[in-house]
Amino acid sequence: MVIMGSTVTKKANTKVNFLIQFYLILTFVCISNCQDFRVYYNDNNQFQYLISIQFFNDISFASDLQQRAKNQIGSLPNSPPGSEDDTDAKIKLGNKLFRDINLSANQIQACVTCHPIDGRSAGMDRQTTPRGTFGQLGKRNTPTILNVGFNSVLFWDGRRNSLYDQAIDPFINPIEMSLSSESELIQKIQNDPSYSEYFVRAFPSNPNINLHNVRLSLASFERSLVSNSKFDDFVMGNLLIFNRQELEGLNIFLEVGCTNCHSGYLLGGNNLSKLESSFLYNPNDFGKFEVTGDSNDRYLFKIPSLRNVTLTQPYFHDGSVTSLKETIERMNEYKLNRRLASSEIDLLIVFLKTLSDKTKSN
Ligand code: HEC
Ligand code: HEC
Repeated sequence: MVIMGSTVTKKANTKVNFLIQFYLILTFVCISNCQDFRVYYNDNNQFQYLISIQFFNDISFASDLQQRAKNQIGSLPNSPPGSEDDTDAKIKLGNKLFRDINLSANQIQACVTCHPIDGRSAGMDRQTTPRGTFGQLGKRNTPTILNVGFNSVLFWDGRRNSLYDQAIDPFINPIEMSLSSESELIQKIQNDPSYSEYFVRAFPSNPNINLHNVRLSLASFERSLVSNSKFDDFVMGNLLIFNRQELEGLNIFLEVGCTNCHSGYLLGGNNLSKLESSFLYNPNDFGKFEVTGDSNDRYLFKIPSLRNVTLTQPYFHDGSVTSLKETIERMNEYKLNRRLASSEIDLLIVFLKTLSDKTKSN
């Protein structure tokens, strides 16, 4: 589905009939192996026997992993919780607000400036930390807006739990769009005559231009940004879609305990975790402590979703690491079941690519 000029598509259900897969794999195994086997084994029975072993080894590795991935990760639903009442009209209004530079203090910045979604852009600006509308330097790395509707923890310090509550923050944040107040925001929208028909369509029984309706429509729009990945195709039943390296990367991911923190179908996004080693944390950012003042919350940060992670460098709350390989090397300092070898990190990266939207690149 094409949403408001962005190419983010809703997931197609790609269940492939198991019998078709069976014959395809058989054909594939024959093409790749028959001739070799024929050289060494003239006895036809033994030849068939070896092909069967090879075939069942391959298919059982893939199908075992498919089952484990289904149980331990799962596939992304077509739409986030709470999207039942997201009409096209609300999404259209949210889209207009998301792109409106007039809603920043000096009229040059919109949500889409830092969260670009058009074409192949993956929902974040690729900056270490972004600059606000007057060029003021931000403190934290921009998370992708893709799949944001599935997050129950928002912001790196987890200070919001819903898109509805979060929606107005960036407009009045002094390091972002820098409006002086919520009422200035509403005034700006009221002064633009092009908005009234959008509000009438989105909220026919109560078309007021107020904070409540702005929150509802921005949240509806954000919930429509759902990505579509090869990993979901695999988990939903397409056993053939992963190559050997992708399967091995997934196997390592499940084995070493990445899912202890990057859990659920979003692979993160729903919990915080304490950065305990001085090597990991940034002394200028205390995480959740900055919101609560509770010393137990010092260095508590959001565990980010790993969906689209191969498209959203640089990494971590402060954008301090550019390479994905180094980022994963750092996870060795977190609570893994065992240390990762360099070759395993390469395979993990191959697997992480399957979690990215098929229509996006970086
Ligand atoms: C100047 C760049 C900038 C602009 C403009 C901006 N954002 Fe963000 N956005 C960020 C940064 C940086 C963060 C992380 C801040 C933090 O964690 O403290 C963020 C976080 C978010 C999050 C939480 C994501 C998550 O996974 O935790 C949402 C949702 C969001 N922004 C939506 C919006 C909307 C809606 C607008 C427009 C009203 C907007 N942003 C404008 C930079 C920006
Ligand atoms: C103990 C919990 C924990 C475990 C286990 C864990 N992570 Fe993380 N991961 C985090 C936290 C917390 C962050 C954010 C840290 C920060 O911002 O400073 C993170 C960040 C990341 C990032 C950067 C994401 C971004 O958008 O910036 C990647 C990639 C990543 N982890 C991959 C992995 C992989 C692969 C594994 C398994 C080898 C793993 N993690 C295991 C907690 C964990």
